[in-house]
Amino acid sequence: AKVGVLISGRGSNMAALLYASKRSDCPYEIVLVAANDPDAAGLKLAAAEGVATFGQSHKGLKREEFDAIIDAELRKAGAHYVALAGYMRLLSPGFVDGWAGRMVNIHPSLLPKYKGLDTHERALDAGDTVGGCSVHIVTAELDDGPVLGQTEVAILPGDTPETLAARILIAEHQLYPRVLAELVSRETSPDWLLDQVRERAL
Ligand code: GRF
Repeated sequence: AKVGVLISGRGSNMAALLYASKRSDCPYEIVLVAANDPDAAGLKLAAAEGVATFGQSHKGLKREEFDAIIDAELRKAGAHYVALAGYMRLLSPGFVDGWAGRMVNIHPSLLPKYKGLDTHERALDAGDTVGGCSVHIVTAELDDGPVLGQTEVAILPGDTPETLAARILIAEHQLYPRVLAELVSRETSPDWLLDQVRERAL
């Protein structure tokens, strides 16, 4: 299965997806890495690894206009699935609809806890002893779609948002390729998944 990856910065999850795809038994390949920042570090790595890249700033464009450009690039590259990996832009409903059930995101919390930003700080402030990461289907609401997989990560006394983020990132890099491989290996999207996507679109 052909996958397009959208990033905004560092791209370490993109790298995890890419290197996992090099295994001969991996059921997906990355056909495009696109960013809303032409200087995103992850774009340089993807290009050095021989993956097609596209970088353009969203500044000055309406959300729908920019998303249409990204959509066209993904389709031109032949992508059948989209993986968001640290893509820091809200997506327009039209874009989300066009990839319904075939777009996933990784989020550094145990969803439905701590949607949005500053997840690690919020987990620490709440006194949680376990944090983690989730891969979910993308729907119109931020960090809200059906969860496909999660990894729990221990929170240690003395953790800071930075130390916790670093530990959860290790788990993200393990989780994301595995869940993406499972998703693309399904013959059809299971009914429960599409039902949930439809429900949330209402
Ligand atoms: C990750 O923690 C991811 O869960 C979140 O943004 C961060 C992106 O990091 N959505 P990277 O660009 O993949 O290194």
